[in-house]
Amino acid sequence: MTRLLLVAAVLLAACRGKQERVEPPAAEKVVRGKEVVGALKKNLKGALEQELANGPVAALVACQSLAPALAQSLSSEGVLVGRATRKPRNPGNAAAGWTADALTRFEKMKSEGKDLLGASYARRLPDGRTAYAEPLVIQDVCLACHGADLAPEVTAALAERYPSDQATGYAAGDLRGLAWAELP
Ligand code: HEC
Repeated sequence: MTRLLLVAAVLLAACRGKQERVEPPAAEKVVRGKEVVGALKKNLKGALEQELANGPVAALVACQSLAPALAQSLSSEGVLVGRATRKPRNPGNAAAGWTADALTRFEKMKSEGKDLLGASYARRLPDGRTAYAEPLVIQDVCLACHGADLAPEVTAALAERYPSDQATGYAAGDLRGLAWAELP
């Protein structure tokens, strides 16, 4: 009987431990993650629209320096922010670790016909940090640089600047990747 109780106690403790590990992140961290990711998306979109007025190649050149600089400027006090994808243009944006897990979630949602608009991913990481991500979906405006049918000058600029580019061949509605934030 004592033995049985002991087994029950150990099992209970094990279950508690497991529960702690899947505990959702603190709500205020998720709000903060949403803010940072929202700012990254909004600023990038604004810059893109502005630069596209000068043609896709000029916009592409601007994007190469602007995108990393924006992510950098939004990162502060231990907060990290960026974009990740399975088919990177900038090799530094290859999905890995929890961003790959988040992409798997969004891919599953898409394959089940669920709407990615407004979707998000939030989780507490084993080190206690909070992970937050939102999907990035291809729209018409993206096709000049990520579509299947690129202008020759865009193809040339990409070959010169991103020799290992994998980020073309997309159609409107495709999941391109995600915007992510990691908070202390
Ligand atoms: C004017 C060309 C251009 C347009 C239009 C454009 N992009 Fe990009 N995109 C780029 C460039 C250049 C990079 C690489 C930036 C870098 O070096 O970090 C990039 C990178 C990305 C990344 C980061 C992952 C990676 O492959 O490096 C995502 C995600 C992305 N673009 C999504 C989009 C979406 C969604 C749209 C439409 C709303 C869009 N892009 C429109 C040129 C463009």
